[in-house]
Amino acid sequence: MHFSLLSLFLFFALAAAVPAALAPRDHTPQVKESVAAPNGWTRLGRAPSDRSIRLRIALFQQDFAGLETQLYEISDPEHRRYGAHMSKEDVEKYVAPHPASLALVDEWLVAHGVHESSLGRSPAKDWEYYSWQHTDGDILVRATSYSLPQYLHDTIELIQPTTIFARGKGMAPILYPEDNEPLTPATPLANSHIDASCATRITLSCIMRLYNAVGYKPRATKKNAIGITGFLEQYANQRDLTSFYRQQLPAAVHSTFNTVSVYGGKNNQSLWVAGEEANLDTQFGFGVAYPTPGTFWSTPGSPGSFDPDAHTVVDTNEPYLDWLDYILDSKHIPQTISTSYGDDEQTVPFTYASRVCKRFAELGCRGVSLLFASGDAGVGDGDPDPVTQQCFTNDGKNTKRFIPQFPSSCPYVTSVGGTMSIPEVSANFSGGGFSNYFSRPAYQNKAVGQYLRKLPHGTYEGLFNRAGRGLPDVSAQARKFQIFWRGGPISIGGTSAATPVVAGIVALLNDARLAAGRPPLGFLNPLIYKRGAHAFNDVVAGNNPGCGTPGFNATKDWDPGKRILYANR
Ligand SMILES: *[C@@H]1O[C@H](CO)[C@@H](O)[C@H](O)[C@H]1NC(C)=O
Ligand SMILES: *[C@@H]1O[C@H](CO)[C@@H](O)[C@H](O)[C@H]1NC(C)=O
Ligand SMILES: *[C@@H]1O[C@H](CO)[C@@H](O)[C@H](O)[C@H]1NC(C)=O
Repeated sequence: MHFSLLSLFLFFALAAAVPAALAPRDHTPQVKESVAAPNGWTRLGRAPSDRSIRLRIALFQQDFAGLETQLYEISDPEHRRYGAHMSKEDVEKYVAPHPASLALVDEWLVAHGVHESSLGRSPAKDWEYYSWQHTDGDILVRATSYSLPQYLHDTIELIQPTTIFARGKGMAPILYPEDNEPLTPATPLANSHIDASCATRITLSCIMRLYNAVGYKPRATKKNAIGITGFLEQYANQRDLTSFYRQQLPAAVHSTFNTVSVYGGKNNQSLWVAGEEANLDTQFGFGVAYPTPGTFWSTPGSPGSFDPDAHTVVDTNEPYLDWLDYILDSKHIPQTISTSYGDDEQTVPFTYASRVCKRFAELGCRGVSLLFASGDAGVGDGDPDPVTQQCFTNDGKNTKRFIPQFPSSCPYVTSVGGTMSIPEVSANFSGGGFSNYFSRPAYQNKAVGQYLRKLPHGTYEGLFNRAGRGLPDVSAQARKFQIFWRGGPISIGGTSAATPVVAGIVALLNDARLAAGRPPLGFLNPLIYKRGAHAFNDVVAGNNPGCGTPGFNATKDWDPGKRILYANR
């Protein structure tokens, strides 16, 4: 729905002045949520009163606990219901709000002059805004708290964008400009079927060999599909993809993918606006899974910088809920989806993170495997400037703390870290650690518990949440990927690169299952932790520095920087 800020202010003036006339309820606004602005943000001034902002009101779901039970049963390879994924309608029965809650919120909105016609519904049916500027120049219109009448607090879970300072960064900014010469001819490594060049330059053929996928011929291409999300005006360029295929996968040179616009997301095919992230994700994701059909979703949202005085701009920098609404409303969803975007967990309000995470669980119930990049700054946020870096808590106490990434920290998605070299070691930038928001899911108890017991007593005490969800879940090569961008070859990396690779492999595994008449893998983590030991190569060297520490070590068995996927089925 679209409110203008002006009408919001009016509405609170009204709410304060005439509550008794509206209903017997007490309409006095009470603080619903209050956050501290993350480091690096400076308040500029009152937001222009005629800026529009599209707000989303999330009502509490009737039975998320019930849905979670379903998710864990159908994702547990030892449960008799393994693979019994749910339909759209079945999922909606659990997450729909109580009809009485809907009526209450409608009544509240109508009482304040917001009518049905300006409301959009998701399929399941006094805040003060300021402009804020980040040290890197980005400006957002946000509030540090908002209020609602007390009687709505147990009905409305959250309203966003209000307190969210996240910007949904792409994670592929690591460029290796020194590598831009032509690829050298392949010479196999001694005692290996892998080319020596793969130790320093990653091509599709390196990935297929490293992860045992050479020669697999997809057969379920009428049923199976792979999807790549795109945000922040990242456009996936078809001409660059064709050049990439000409160089690395000639059989695919005539293949295309489907770009889907989510709520008006654009698709500019000019080479000059091709996105590095979008190109990396589509070239390696679709390349590994070829000829599995590929979908690229373009969801609107500016990369952060907009003119706070341009009154007509609608602030849509809310990275995930739009896409989730769109995708959950679809009958058929690609079985494997890769996302290489994320934010420092603490810049995302807990209520928002928790709601987005629950929606990912809905996708898991529908049989979708979700892969998210674990981040490119080790245990930190990668900012060397002690003033703006986020290695401090956001609660006003400024305590030093490691920084996990969201959505990777959500326990209902699979978090993908990065490795390098052959044999593989953990890449030193690979995001990994423990969520401060989400507690450790049962499927991780054994693996993560074991790791924590081995940590020397007192290690990084106070810097991480020992009870938190550990990440990543898997890793893959993440440096020096050879792709095409804006007409020429470049070398690029990050967990952004590892994520579509893992998604491509998972899509091939799903192909094998569908071709054999079985359901797709769906939510992967319970399977990975129960049966993974046989399918994965354990990465036992490397660490992930950040926040002025060496970070965590890769060790035997689970650790916050290991485990790579081998596709031997
Ligand atoms: C696509 O981007 C190019 C380069 O910035 C620009 O000139 C062109 O107008 C854009 N096309 C559309 C349809 O927006
Ligand atoms: C990570 O490794 C690269 C080269 O492998 C090195 O240049 C860089 O300084 C390392 N970063 C940290 C934080 O140790
Ligand atoms: C990582 O390994 C080094 C060298 O063995 C050791 O000194 C350090 O304590 C380990 N760090 C953690 C967090 O386990």
